[in-house]
Amino acid sequence: MPRPKNIVILISGSGSNMAAIVQAVQQQGWQQQFGAAVAAVISNRPGAPGLRLAQALGVATHLLDHHAFETREAFDAALMQLIDSHQPALVVLAGFMRILTPAFVAHYAGRLINIHPSLLPAFTGLNTHQRAIDAGCTQAGCTVHQVTAELDHGPILAQAAVPVLPEDTADTLAARVLVEEHRLYPQAVRGWLQSQV
Ligand code: GAR
Repeated sequence: MPRPKNIVILISGSGSNMAAIVQAVQQQGWQQQFGAAVAAVISNRPGAPGLRLAQALGVATHLLDHHAFETREAFDAALMQLIDSHQPALVVLAGFMRILTPAFVAHYAGRLINIHPSLLPAFTGLNTHQRAIDAGCTQAGCTVHQVTAELDHGPILAQAAVPVLPEDTADTLAARVLVEEHRLYPQAVRGWLQSQV
């Protein structure tokens, strides 16, 4: 019997990418096919709607409010302990809006991935859609990448592009990109897990 491939997903908000991954795991039978399961969803924000969404999908959830910690290092240490209690093969950042400490990134080196709403290396950081519109880009999109010490700079695993339309606002562009995120992220997670022996 191969070792179970536990996935731990970190969220801060609506959790729609988390839900897309959980639904892919459940509907495509990842557990039976290659031993993969979402072991837990963790939010750093008490009000994150994604927490209730995960519960409705039957996934264990944890809240670890970063306000309860005096330093970034103390929060990340507690977060690592909580994540490790689920023995993760892969830690998935899905709209987890925190800068991670070098110790956290080093601890999960090679098994920590993120989705970013731009065609990296363009538009690292925040407000990606408005910045793409302001720069006159004809294409926007999303990127799944490995997380390394430098924000939004790790090796790229997958990308999807969408056209930027003349009438686009940041919101309409974000919605079009999000549809692609929901398709791309489960596919990239699956590919990553299947590539691990
Ligand atoms: C997604 O668009 C994701 O790409 C973005 O936050 C949104 C989360 O939505 N992530 C980042 O900006 C990370 N820098 P979700 O909570 O519905 O998945």
